[in-house]
Amino acid sequence: MTLHAMSPQAMASYSDRLVALFAEGGAFREIWRGDGMALMEMRDGEPVPTFKVHFGYTDGISMTTIRGGPERYPPDRQQPCEPWLFVLRDEAENYFVPEPREFGLNGSFAVFKMIETDVVKFENYLQSNKDKIDPERLAAKICGRWRNGVPLMLSPETDSPPGGIPPEQLNDFEYVNADGSGDPRGLRCPVGAHMRRINPRGQPVTGQGQPGGSNNTHRLIRRGLPYGPAYDPSQPYDGIERGLLGYFINSSIENQYEFVLGNWVNDSEFAGAVRLAPKSKDPLIGTQDPAESIFVIPQAEGAPPIKLTGFSSFVATKAAAYCFLPSVTAIKFIAGLG
Ligand code: HEM
Repeated sequence: MTLHAMSPQAMASYSDRLVALFAEGGAFREIWRGDGMALMEMRDGEPVPTFKVHFGYTDGISMTTIRGGPERYPPDRQQPCEPWLFVLRDEAENYFVPEPREFGLNGSFAVFKMIETDVVKFENYLQSNKDKIDPERLAAKICGRWRNGVPLMLSPETDSPPGGIPPEQLNDFEYVNADGSGDPRGLRCPVGAHMRRINPRGQPVTGQGQPGGSNNTHRLIRRGLPYGPAYDPSQPYDGIERGLLGYFINSSIENQYEFVLGNWVNDSEFAGAVRLAPKSKDPLIGTQDPAESIFVIPQAEGAPPIKLTGFSSFVATKAAAYCFLPSVTAIKFIAGLG
């Protein structure tokens, strides 16, 4: 059961009401509860929610557009995704709606994850490489965006380009265009960066070789929030756990969530003709072994690439569950079963 609320007070009162209802019915019982909450920022003396996550990045910019659905903001140039990639539908190309039909139709599958983010380890790693690369630049190369959300593809040298980048352009970029131009070798945004691995956009990848095409059949919808208090750099070793809590929604966990993690995040040979360092994985969320971890940052004008090694994972999965999100008709169907 997931509850969304506008304030911590509303969350607590609705949660308690639900638990009381569960106890009455006898069908459910509470075994665990975990609350996420947007990280807050003071503006004009008032706390306001932000889109920041614990490593300091702005999140929630690249959100999947569905054909026929509402337009996303900020917009992008990617082809909209087919609805059947997220909602179990008859016109799907690679699966059948599970039985019983009244239950399966229009539902979704989702992977629930609670991921601990080790902020101190991450910040220390950025600092420990400052003789090779500026820490903020390294943070940007790891993700694909500067921490303020500006994408490397639009501004590779600074997070504050002259004149700024309007919010509606923050997701409007491609890695490799239809004519092969763009950033095929990752000089702006490393091919191995988190965002570029997890959604390579029009970049040719294994199994899909057309520049400027779409890698949409493996897309995910993300809905999540941070948990734990905002990190205070003046008290780094406070011993408090921080992380992300949320869902990765799709219609085929095997072909979407598991495919992306197995083939793009944790594999070095996904990028078609581009050869990444063997053993390299997504530097932000890959499963790293310090004995062989490597992140290569290509440099422009023939300069030798920066090679970073010896890091362990900055994140750890604390909980995971494969879930089914029933449609409204399915809920009515369940209600009528008794
Ligand atoms: C705690 C771990 C993680 C952190 C800190 C993190 C952080 C980020 C950030 C900062 C962005 C760029 C913001 C944006 O464009 O909206 C991003 C994008 C994204 N992340 Fe993660 N992420 C994490 C884990 C994951 C996992 C486990 C998955 C999926 C298996 C995932 C999937 C995505 C996707 C699909 C995008 C959008 C890429 C695009 O469309 O260009 N992330 N992430």
